[in-house]
Amino acid sequence: MSILDSPGKQQTQKELYEKTRTVIVKDSSAGCSQLAAEVADLIRQRQGENKNVVLGLATGSTPVPFYKELIRLHQQEGLSFKNVITFNLDEYHGLAPDHRESYNRFMREQLFDHIDIPQENINIPDGTVSLDAVYESCLDYEKRIEEAGGIDLQILGIGRTGHIGFNEPGSSRDSRTRMITLDRITRRDAAADFLGEAHVPRHAITMGVGTILGAKRLVLMAWGGNKAEIVQQAVEGKVTDRISASFLQEHDNATFLVDQAASSQLTRMHLPWLVGSVEWDRKMIKRAVTWLSHRFEKPILRLVDEDYNESGAGEILTASGRAYNVNISVFDLVKHTITGWPGGKPGTDDTQRPERAEPHPKRVLIFSPEPSDAVMSLGGTIHRLVEQGHEVKLAVQTSGSLRVPDLAAQKFAAVLQEMAQVIGDNTSSAGGEYASQVLAQLEEKGLFGDDSEDVKRLKALILRGEVRDAALVCGLESEAVVFQDLPFYEKGRYRQFQMTDEDVDCTAALLEEYQPHQIYATGHLADPSALQTLCYRSIEDALERFKDESWVGDCRVWLYRGKESEMNSYEIDMAVPMSPEQLELKSEAIRKFQSISQDELDSRGRNQTTAKRYDQLGMAEYEAIESFQRRG
Ligand code: GLP
Repeated sequence: MSILDSPGKQQTQKELYEKTRTVIVKDSSAGCSQLAAEVADLIRQRQGENKNVVLGLATGSTPVPFYKELIRLHQQEGLSFKNVITFNLDEYHGLAPDHRESYNRFMREQLFDHIDIPQENINIPDGTVSLDAVYESCLDYEKRIEEAGGIDLQILGIGRTGHIGFNEPGSSRDSRTRMITLDRITRRDAAADFLGEAHVPRHAITMGVGTILGAKRLVLMAWGGNKAEIVQQAVEGKVTDRISASFLQEHDNATFLVDQAASSQLTRMHLPWLVGSVEWDRKMIKRAVTWLSHRFEKPILRLVDEDYNESGAGEILTASGRAYNVNISVFDLVKHTITGWPGGKPGTDDTQRPERAEPHPKRVLIFSPEPSDAVMSLGGTIHRLVEQGHEVKLAVQTSGSLRVPDLAAQKFAAVLQEMAQVIGDNTSSAGGEYASQVLAQLEEKGLFGDDSEDVKRLKALILRGEVRDAALVCGLESEAVVFQDLPFYEKGRYRQFQMTDEDVDCTAALLEEYQPHQIYATGHLADPSALQTLCYRSIEDALERFKDESWVGDCRVWLYRGKESEMNSYEIDMAVPMSPEQLELKSEAIRKFQSISQDELDSRGRNQTTAKRYDQLGMAEYEAIESFQRRG
């Protein structure tokens, strides 16, 4: 069945849970090629009938690969867009069309400038309209959609609040195009694009839920683990104006198109035994039993046969006997993930430990996509590794300069300038000149201009200092911190980074030089366009180049989660507990990132939640836990 086909009568067990048709694809590029092929068919079919096609379009990182594929179809396969009329979902209020964050500019750069769509066929809400003219302008937008014959196919992404377009929680089923106040979470998510939350517009103009549901077909795309929870709620939960994407359940031709990671919280993926038969291997049993324990709020060892039977997990008992036996084996499995020796405990039997004892010490390479990621996610583990005598290296993959606000750069440049004046000798005059230059460049570029090379360098240096200070708190001397400055970051911007072979070369060179026994890395579950994902891909691609070398065979890769989500208990292969003092030490390290908003950095809560979950399973009660998954 094609993505755009009508779903028809829902048949299978899984669809008892999924109330909107959901197609799971391998990854975003597979999904986007499939969708683009369907759109191309629709366009060609209408061309044959001498008719127009009306497409509703979306912005954000989600549809970028879809637009790329449409451009490819145009350039390489001659697909014409002359008969296509487009309506965009939304636009920030107060941004001029050429503002670097306006959706108008986004659409031109990502699609319209590369295809043959007639200019007059493009419709995007006007973000520059004055407040007293907003109402009229929105009515006019609705009228234009109607005059075009309504939208044939509406493309959608989904925000973390479950919004479609900018229909934030509280948007009603019948809402039409209007101005809306953006939710705090949405503004936070856009903070990196706008170089700080304070600069994100407070209002936007968006098609209403009613306008969107008026389209003949709807396809909502979602990629990456950070969308998994909201996708599950929108697809399986109740229809509610708290999650505007849930209204798709009321449309008779709507499809969620999601990748593996974004589908991971759907019942058929998360609790597959509830929707069909599964193979009860160790991993699946661990998953089911930890879920039962959380569900009944009972430690694993107190689960009884009825708990298994009543929750659809009775099959485990058929295969393995009584709850008593299963409980003990899963309890042991979870218990053995806990270790205070993340690099392995030398001279001990390691058959039940997450990491092997030998060699000791190990060469450990910790990758941090942005300067603060590793300290935030595994500061406690770094401290232990250093204390336990391993040769630890922290590889900071990108400079992180885009995260540093102008204010921080201004502060440093001003101090440098003043120092040059105070000392007033020749050796400092070069510094003084440089500082004045930076201050002038900052002034000139304004809030949203691109940083000059000097400004970028200063911002990167500020973070270098901060990450060195943070690493030192975790026990790592500054020589142990290496800066990769991956080129894709220096050339790109958030949500639009493009990794190339050059990035893989940099990572390969580092791996080859260091030949680690242990690697810590993050990123595989995040949004495919996210910086963390690209950094992770550079490691995977680089490792692939050395796959036949013996050191790679002897190297274990441990994955940590960035801030997007916590690991479920069943996913954890190594749990490194932290005492209150160790947690405090980690917080002290995190506080060294003074130029970055502390809101973005707090990981205490996540580590404490993991510890609470372990406690609830019946493990020892720790203050906090850092968790890792072994790369399979
Ligand atoms: C914004 C847009 C939405 C988009 C959402 C998710 O809020 N108004 O249309 O779906 O961002 O963005 P992304 O695709 O980058 O995750």
